[in-house]
Amino acid sequence: MTAQNFKGRSLLCWLDYTAEEIRYLLDLSRQVKEEAKRGEAHRRFTGKTLALLFEKRSTRTRCAFETAFGEEGGHPVFLSTQDIHLGVKEALEDTARVLGRMFSAIQFRGYKQSTAETLAQYSGVPVYNGLTDSFHPTQALADIQTLEENFGNAAGKKLCFVGDGRNNVARSLLVICAKLGIHVTVITPPELNPDPALLALCEPLARSSGAEIQIAADVDAAAGAHALYTDVWVSMGEEAHKDERKRLLGPYQVNQALMDRTGRKDSIFMHCLPAVKGEEVTADVLDGPQSRAWDEAENRKHTIKAIMLATLSGDAL
Ligand code: CP
Ligand code: NVA
Repeated sequence: MTAQNFKGRSLLCWLDYTAEEIRYLLDLSRQVKEEAKRGEAHRRFTGKTLALLFEKRSTRTRCAFETAFGEEGGHPVFLSTQDIHLGVKEALEDTARVLGRMFSAIQFRGYKQSTAETLAQYSGVPVYNGLTDSFHPTQALADIQTLEENFGNAAGKKLCFVGDGRNNVARSLLVICAKLGIHVTVITPPELNPDPALLALCEPLARSSGAEIQIAADVDAAAGAHALYTDVWVSMGEEAHKDERKRLLGPYQVNQALMDRTGRKDSIFMHCLPAVKGEEVTADVLDGPQSRAWDEAENRKHTIKAIMLATLSGDAL
């Protein structure tokens, strides 16, 4: 495996990457983080440009892409749907072609996974999925980096997602865990069970990696988990379902009693953020000693830089 395997590739979903490639990016991200901690400055994106397309709001993803790219000499340009013709007036394919003539790469955050796919198909430059309704792959890479900072190689460890089992974060964790041999349990009410079509894709991956995938309605399934992970009950774009989600997910709040159900003194709490304290997680858990949510947020920047280094330059560090 060399960096050349990545040159020019998009990251739309981890289904498109092998376990070995994901491991390479995790290793690169660890090195990037070590460089940052040593205070090293590099200029590896000098002369390169990055379009940051946002249909939905963002704090971490936008800031991670902008700072990771800009501090290495690249020029990021933030473009919300208020600013450009994205699927309005101009065909998406045409916008993609034009952006591909002006930018080295494109980040897309928005609703449809197909928009990210079309941008990748017609722009001819790497497209990074910064969150769609279907997947949040850059988040999942930062999550696994965080898990490994606490427990070493994540293969064979147990990650338990508690909450909306259909959402983009749960889906991305299912895929990356199935690829990397990480046992993944989704604790969710049956109404919010993960999409069977996605599970059908993940199950053979899990069989070959040694991962166990478990879907459970009972919080007892948290027993033995190294990490309990949750996300908001209402994802962006699903605000109309707020009352129903509160009713369905109320019993699944991650509080200290649920953390204690892991039965492990060293278990950690994870959250992609932003968090709604008092809903999916209590403030004492999010702000408490088991929480690694702030490390995950920081690791967004290191993992995103690693992904861009590999796909834009194809060079090793
Ligand atoms: N975790 C995450 O994607 O955060 P933002 O929505 O702030 O980008
Ligand atoms: N599931 C959440 C993740 C936010 C980072 C959402 O899509 O709003």
